[in-house]
Amino acid sequence: MATRQTRKPLNRGTMESLGTPTDLSPAAVAAISETLRQLLADVFALYLKTKNFHWHMSGAHFRDYHLLLDEQATEIFAMTDPIAERARKIGGTTLRSIGDIAKHQRLLDSNGQSVTPNAMLEELVADSRCLTKLMRGAHEVCDEFKDVATASLLEVWIDEAERRTWFLYETVHGRN
Ligand SMILES: [Fe+2]
Repeated sequence: MATRQTRKPLNRGTMESLGTPTDLSPAAVAAISETLRQLLADVFALYLKTKNFHWHMSGAHFRDYHLLLDEQATEIFAMTDPIAERARKIGGTTLRSIGDIAKHQRLLDSNGQSVTPNAMLEELVADSRCLTKLMRGAHEVCDEFKDVATASLLEVWIDEAERRTWFLYETVHGRN
């Protein structure tokens, strides 16, 4: 005869906090998760813009620019999963849909029908610099709550963003 199950069901937590154990305070989880949610929306927006320009590039430097933007898009996309999972590791939640991205992104989309190659690269320089600044802001939130793990990821991503800015800037403004 089977014994009756007497153990209490595990507390799965509320919808907002999914019950993942963490030593961070609820205030820290809320602040860091929100920062990461916004950053993830920005990163998806920049990823799609970079791919958009990769797809719609034209002109004498087509091959170089097309390949550069693909390389950058791959690096940008690689940030998305670690950003989302960082929020989940500390018990927070993250983006759930394209609509959610649109609601939280701070970097602007580009829907232009005929953007020149130089205008594309200039826009990406500006966005890359903006993303760097936003990541420095996210780092400050992490510092406030001693979340060194998220801060450490951000430090690597800031370095990568600065490298992307450098490459884009030199491509547009470098001496011939
Ligand atoms: Fe491609």
